[in-house]
Amino acid sequence: MNLETPYLPHQQVRRSGPVQVNPGALCGDDARVYGPGYSCVCKIILERTGIDLSRYKGQQMHRRLNAYRQRQGFPSFYALASSLERDRESLGSLLDYITINVSGFFRDTEQWEGLVRRIVPILRKLADRNREVFVWSAGSSGGQEAYSVAMALDRHMGRRFRVLGTDIHRPSLDKASSGRYSEDEVQGIPPEILNAYFSRDGAAYTVKPSLRRLVTFERHNLLSDPYPSGVGLVLCRNVMIYFTAAGKDHVLRNLSKSLVPEGVFFAGSTEAIVDANKYGLTQIMPFFYQAM
Ligand SMILES: C[S@@+](CC[C@H](N)C(=O)[O-])C[C@H]1O[C@@H](n2cnc3c(N)ncnc32)[C@H](O)[C@@H]1O
Repeated sequence: MNLETPYLPHQQVRRSGPVQVNPGALCGDDARVYGPGYSCVCKIILERTGIDLSRYKGQQMHRRLNAYRQRQGFPSFYALASSLERDRESLGSLLDYITINVSGFFRDTEQWEGLVRRIVPILRKLADRNREVFVWSAGSSGGQEAYSVAMALDRHMGRRFRVLGTDIHRPSLDKASSGRYSEDEVQGIPPEILNAYFSRDGAAYTVKPSLRRLVTFERHNLLSDPYPSGVGLVLCRNVMIYFTAAGKDHVLRNLSKSLVPEGVFFAGSTEAIVDANKYGLTQIMPFFYQAM
C-alpha cells in the first residue's frame, strides 16, 4: 500500500502483526490433504505475490485450482507449478481465475438504502468531528463498490469524505482506476445518478472527474498488509467468505481496530458477524456494525 496518500498519512498506518504465513502448513497440511504438487503451486503463488492460499477455504480453493489446471491442459499440479515458475503471464492468468472479482454498483440495493437512512447521520457526526470521513472499500474489485459509496455520500452528506478502494488483484485495480464501465455494468445505477456521475462515450460509461478525484485505489492484501487507521466507514463485502476462520478472524480484528470510535463496518449479505462483541463492535442493523 502506498502510505503517502493525503488521508492515509504514514503515521496512521498500524502494523497488523506478523504475517501469519506458515510455510510448514503449506508444505505439510496442504500437501497431506491435496498432495505435494498442489502445495508446490501454493508455495510459488505465496513467493511471487505474497498471497497465502492456506488462509482461504481449502476445499473451495483446491476445487478452483484443479478446474484451472484441467482447463489449461496441465496433467498435474507439478506441471502447472513448473509453468508458473517459467512464465509470469501464466501466474497472472491463474490469479485472474482464483480471485473472484464479481461485483456491481449498489449491490444488494436494500442495504444501500439502509446506509443512507441510518448510517449517513452517523457519518455526518464523524465529519463534524474530524472535518471529513475516511471511507475504505476493502476488496473493491473493479471499483463498483468504492464509486457506489462515493455517489451515495456525495448525494446525502456532501463532499466531506474520501474513499480508498483496495484489492489484491492488480487488473481489478487498473479497471477501477480507469473508471470505465460497459452498459451492462452500469445497469444497477438509477438513471438520474448515472447522468450525474458518468459521461457516455459510445458504449462505455466513464466516471466524471469530479467524483473520480474523491476515490483512490491501491493494492492491499487483507491477510498480510498493515491496516490504515482513522477509518469512519469500512466496507468489506463478499471477500471474507473465501477465507478460513483464522483468516476471517485476522481481518475482523484488524478492520475493527482501523475504525474510529463510532465508525461503521458494512458487511456482506452472507457475512454476519456472530461474535461482534469480541471485536469491539455492536450490530446496529443487519449488515452494519459500529465500533464501541
Ligand atoms: C467477490 S469480490 C467482492 C467485490 C465487492 N466488495 C463487492 O461486494 O461487490 C472479492 C474481491 O476480494 C478480493 N480479494 C480476495 N482476497 C483478498 C485479500 N486477501 N485482500 C484483499 N482483497 C482480496 C478479490 O480480488 C476480489 O476482487
